[in-house]
Amino acid sequence: MAEKIKYVIGLDLGSSKICAVICEINETGGLDLVGFGSTESKGLSRGVVVNLDAAAAVIKQSVEEAERAAETVVESVFVGVSGEHVKSFNSRGAVSISTDDREISVEHIELVIDRAKEAISLPSDVKIVHMIPQAFVVDGQEGIKEPLGLLGGHLEVGCHVITASNLAHQNVVTAVNRAGVVVNDTILQQLASAESTLSNDDKELGVAVIDIGGGTTDLAIFTQGALRHTFILPLAGDQITNDIAVGLRTTIPEAERIKRKYGCALPRLIPEELSFSVSSVGGRKPKSIGKKILCEIVQARMEEILLLIQEEIKHVGFDRKLGAGLVLTGGTAQLEGVVELAEEKMDLPVRLGTPMGLDKMETVLLNSTYSTAIGLVLYGYRTHFRTITKVNTNSNIFSRLWSLVKNQS
Ligand SMILES: Nc1ncnc2c1ncn2[C@@H]1O[C@H](COP(=O)(O)OP(=O)(O)OP(=O)(O)O)[C@@H](O)[C@H]1O
Ligand SMILES: [Mg+2]
Repeated sequence: MAEKIKYVIGLDLGSSKICAVICEINETGGLDLVGFGSTESKGLSRGVVVNLDAAAAVIKQSVEEAERAAETVVESVFVGVSGEHVKSFNSRGAVSISTDDREISVEHIELVIDRAKEAISLPSDVKIVHMIPQAFVVDGQEGIKEPLGLLGGHLEVGCHVITASNLAHQNVVTAVNRAGVVVNDTILQQLASAESTLSNDDKELGVAVIDIGGGTTDLAIFTQGALRHTFILPLAGDQITNDIAVGLRTTIPEAERIKRKYGCALPRLIPEELSFSVSSVGGRKPKSIGKKILCEIVQARMEEILLLIQEEIKHVGFDRKLGAGLVLTGGTAQLEGVVELAEEKMDLPVRLGTPMGLDKMETVLLNSTYSTAIGLVLYGYRTHFRTITKVNTNSNIFSRLWSLVKNQS
């Protein structure tokens, strides 16, 4: 018998951290945070599983930490996917409305989306992760968001399609399964970040969310309320840490520490005389380094990341369509001066995006590092909760499958 869903769980498999967030559906239909676990990432690199056992072990650790806090057992999760293998493009479909009353039904809408899917020819090693309708056209009338119930003879749809390598996708699912958890669905990481940091007004006005993490910088562009473009750049905070380690001849952990403590992306904000102590490699004595030098290293790499993202936005023709500007999120967006640098370089309004949308939240999660994890809960809940039916509760993980519906938003 169908059982009421009580919890929605997000699992962010980042290059830097693995983060599980358990939310309980409250009596008003909102979401309350009840458990949270985060561990250092292992076995994953830039969205791709590179060591299954290591990845499964840290997933298990982070899920168990969240379970202890929530005092519940996690059965299934919404998982984020990312990586250079992820591609996106647009596709169109059309159908005739041949019923006597000419009223557009749910079946017509599903059929027209299927047609847009049929119009795509994919290599056999690639799968569709998202097929997201942007707008419908009814008898030539464009820009219709909700065609259900309208009268018409011809229905068209434009969809944004996101694909991933079958094997890379399967490796993510396998790693999660090995940790004893079933995957409800996979969600592109920046769509999750957008879900927790953007308002509907942002999406209507035109906005780009840029999630600058450890291994990748993920972009999603919305205009007129719809997703228009997604892009993943394999360059982010880890590269800045690496630059600092090389530039200041120190270790990666020490470079990470000083980046977080003293890093700034705008050296001109830093007085010449400020300095700090850095441990050296090879047992040499710690040395004193000017903060300005550190910040010049940070600025150089940050500018490169922003430039590459700006080129991508221009390349797809949205640079003049972002009325709400840019929203920077992810761990690296916390670096001092990044928002100001982006504003200067990209000539658009820029703000730091922190996760919103839960009814009950802990302040520790009000941080751009957790935008994806919380967004996975929100996105999964919005697109699946009404249609998920629990089919079996008390047996092993393979029988705890959920019946899934198409992931359309
Ligand atoms: N306070 C801070 N100041 C500067 N950088 C920070 C700070 N906190 C975290 N970072 C950086 O943010 C990065 C991690 O961000 P995040 O947790 O969003 O990555 P991730 O989701 O694990 O990785 P990805 O999304 O790239 O797979 C690291 O490079 C880390 O050094
Ligand atoms: Mg991330």
